[in-house]
Amino acid sequence: MSFTADEDAAIDGALAVLRAGGLVAVPTETVYGLAANADDEHAVRRIFVAKGRPADHPLIVHVAGPTDVFAWCASMSPPAEVLAAACWPGPLTLLLPRAARVLDVVTGGRDTVGIRVPAHRLTTELLRRFGGGVAAPSANRFGRVSPTTAAHVRADLGDDVDLVLDGGPCPVGVESTIVDCSVEPPQVLRPGGIPTEQIEELLRGQLAVAHGPSRAAGMLTSHYAPACPVLLAESDDAVERLADVAAGRMVIGVGLTLPDYARQLYELLRNADRTRASAVVALLPPPVGLGHAIRDRLFKAAADRAG
Ligand code: TXA
Ligand code: MG
Repeated sequence: MSFTADEDAAIDGALAVLRAGGLVAVPTETVYGLAANADDEHAVRRIFVAKGRPADHPLIVHVAGPTDVFAWCASMSPPAEVLAAACWPGPLTLLLPRAARVLDVVTGGRDTVGIRVPAHRLTTELLRRFGGGVAAPSANRFGRVSPTTAAHVRADLGDDVDLVLDGGPCPVGVESTIVDCSVEPPQVLRPGGIPTEQIEELLRGQLAVAHGPSRAAGMLTSHYAPACPVLLAESDDAVERLADVAAGRMVIGVGLTLPDYARQLYELLRNADRTRASAVVALLPPPVGLGHAIRDRLFKAAADRAG
């Protein structure tokens, strides 16, 4: 892969911050992550402070390529191998039995670790030069909307992040699909950038749909939320009934394809805050493909803030 002189310098700058135990916001195909050296306990602790995130919410370890995963997991089940081969690099996180190397601060003391091989040329190169893994949650304050541009990260985290590696807007726009492969059969714990149907097809029906309280820690009911209320509409008619422009309500999602809706979702929610909309009226897309992830995020954005 080739890089411009500016990109090369930016990657080296990010590398120096990681090596010094600092925090770098990194672009991925899904959302920006807030990365620290996963082997450096002090650096990883800084992530929780910067985000205001509870310490028992585990972090995903990001690595350069599929073979680097074996340094962080104790084993890979056959279904995990299938998903890894088909989806990495890409918007998939696998929960796997952790290797001894993985720090408790990364997993919140769990016996599993979340691992992902992101697909973004700058971050892949950063990880390649770094040689290790970085622990990274989405680069937003806890409970707020995930960032899909470098400007979002700066606006949200300010000086609490040492360096933002600007890789442009994130092409997918919603977080990775999380599949727990530490259990038989595997379970989808969070719908995301890889549609659930694709995972089902790859595993030939050997997939459990998660019921009851999610095993992905930190999957709170209220999350991904703008400051103003979010009202959900199942149809264009429902949007019309709820849309009250005079009252300052902002409508989102009408006339967008699923990939465009996913890509723009967090930007649209942020715009609502920026323009001080009184409420967001969001069209719920059909529950197919990326629609699963968009619906999940909208339900969380709309959930009772006390919940
Ligand atoms: O697309 C993504 O996944 C982005 C980019 C930056 O890679 N990352 C991301 O991380 O969304 P985060 O921390 O915002 O969301 C990851 C979710 C959290 O709810 C976390 O608690 C859960 O995954 N998680 C991570 N490791 C886990 C584990 N070992 N067991 C259970 N849940 C885990
Ligand atoms: Mg997050």
